[in-house]
Amino acid sequence: MIKAVIFDLDGVIVSTDDCHFKAWKKMADEEGIYFDREINNRLRGVSRMESLEIVLEKSEREYSEEEKLQLAERKNDYYKQLITELTPDDILPGVKDRLEELKKNGIKIAIGSSSKNTPIILKQIGLDGYFDAVSDGNNITNSKPDPEVFVKAGQMLGIDSENCMIVEDADAGIEAGKRAGMRTLAVQNAHGGDYSAENLLNCDLLKIVSEG
Ligand code: BG6
Ligand code: MG
Repeated sequence: MIKAVIFDLDGVIVSTDDCHFKAWKKMADEEGIYFDREINNRLRGVSRMESLEIVLEKSEREYSEEEKLQLAERKNDYYKQLITELTPDDILPGVKDRLEELKKNGIKIAIGSSSKNTPIILKQIGLDGYFDAVSDGNNITNSKPDPEVFVKAGQMLGIDSENCMIVEDADAGIEAGKRAGMRTLAVQNAHGGDYSAENLLNCDLLKIVSEG
């Protein structure tokens, strides 16, 4: 029986893909490193430092650990500037209705995101304080596909993994949910979930929750 649904943030609640792309692209261009949308797709669900390692695969030179931290910080400065533009209008179609339906039916809702910028983004889109629990890049040591972020969200809610379902747009996130022992719903480009839907607008989430 599903008692809680844990949502990934980027790509599920709000589309920040383009902001991540622009920020990485600016940093990569400045460093003379090739970067495109295809590489950006590989960064979904992956932590900032792990994302940087993927970006640096195209670099012609080696960077020291200190330089890497500086590159990641520079990218994050560009990203933070871009997400100041986010508003509640950027919440993806269907999301608010699905969240309200779950709340009304006594299902707990939480965030499980690798992003350290989760608090800023939730504030920008007007969902600060809206979820029963928020587990994000600030309270984990291992990012998806490690299950830590979802396990911690379940613990914050006080609900066992077997009674939780996660919603993800990244394969790394689906794997994390499975490793956490939770039911999985794959949306957008994610594969391999117990359930799948193109997006949350055309998804009967309550039905899935009551079946699961
Ligand atoms: C995830 C995104 O939610 O957060 C990744 O899908 C991103 O693309 C990761 O790299 C870390 O984000 P941040 O905001 O901590 O740099
Ligand atoms: Mg995502």
